[in-house]
Amino acid sequence: MEELAQKQAKEKKVSPKSETRKIEVSHPVEGAGAPTHPVKIKVEHLNGWFGEKQALFDINMDVLEKEVTAIIGPSGCGKSTLIRCFNRMHETVPSARHTGDILLEKKSIFAANMDPVEVRRRIGMVFQKPTPFPTLSLYDNVVVGLRLNGVRDKKRLDEVVESSLKKAALWEEVKDSLHRPGAALSGGQQQRLCIARALAIDLEVLLMDEPCSALDPISTSKIEELIHELRQNYTIIIVTHNMQQAARVSQKTAFMLNGKLIEFNPTEKVFTNPDNKLTEDYITGRFG
Ligand SMILES: Nc1ncnc2c1ncn2[C@@H]1O[C@H](COP(=O)(O)OP(=O)(O)OP(=O)(O)O)[C@@H](O)[C@H]1O
Ligand SMILES: [Mg+2]
Repeated sequence: MEELAQKQAKEKKVSPKSETRKIEVSHPVEGAGAPTHPVKIKVEHLNGWFGEKQALFDINMDVLEKEVTAIIGPSGCGKSTLIRCFNRMHETVPSARHTGDILLEKKSIFAANMDPVEVRRRIGMVFQKPTPFPTLSLYDNVVVGLRLNGVRDKKRLDEVVESSLKKAALWEEVKDSLHRPGAALSGGQQQRLCIARALAIDLEVLLMDEPCSALDPISTSKIEELIHELRQNYTIIIVTHNMQQAARVSQKTAFMLNGKLIEFNPTEKVFTNPDNKLTEDYITGRFG
């Protein structure tokens, strides 16, 4: 009798370690000996507020060039606020302020001679809900940023449309109908159109805030493949609620809780052997 009770108790007890191992890491950071990438974005003692409410607490992290950094954590923990600091979108909220610094290639993005528009050109953002301009054609959606910068040369615009749509893995699907309106695409295609629009303007860092949460599994896997391709040339920071996705696409994972960065480590480590008990509790589904 007692033996049976013990056996049942044993079966009930789930090993967190074995559970976390179920999440497969597809693109781990290159092994020892491989050259590490330089730091693209350095976050130093970043605090952020909305009015009286503090949303970010002393965040420090190095985002490496040509890596995918995933940011995970429960709703309201500050993921969007953090990535909106990276391209100075946070300061566009009237009550918002921050202290601390963010360096883009060693230069503060808040420096007096850093134009926020230029920062947003170098560090572009793709949102949860695809946001193409619905009445503009696909072509015009891609080059809207270039046109705003005064580019008029038709040949140059044609080239950028083709190369950006190719980089965003959308060209083959739309090349024969570039003058359709942006709204005529599926959700997944619209998201790739938004990525093409970001890539059209010499972007260096791509911020993605839950880019797949409104998409079906096939569109999601296309975006994930695309992220893997884009990593060859860009630095990518992706906020995701989907831990399998974080494990599949990223080399580093940041886990946030209540505005604090709890753990920031190679993705493989975060999902198999995290340093922090809170990380383990989160990834094994104990809260959030
Ligand atoms: N514009 C705003 N004005 C006031 N408070 C805000 C604003 N935006 C966010 N907050 C608050 O800041 C905190 C962090 O929010 P944030 O949007 O960064 O969370 P998140 O981790 O992105 O959540 P989710 O996963 O739900 O998108 C929350 O408490 C939120 O209520
Ligand atoms: Mg968010």
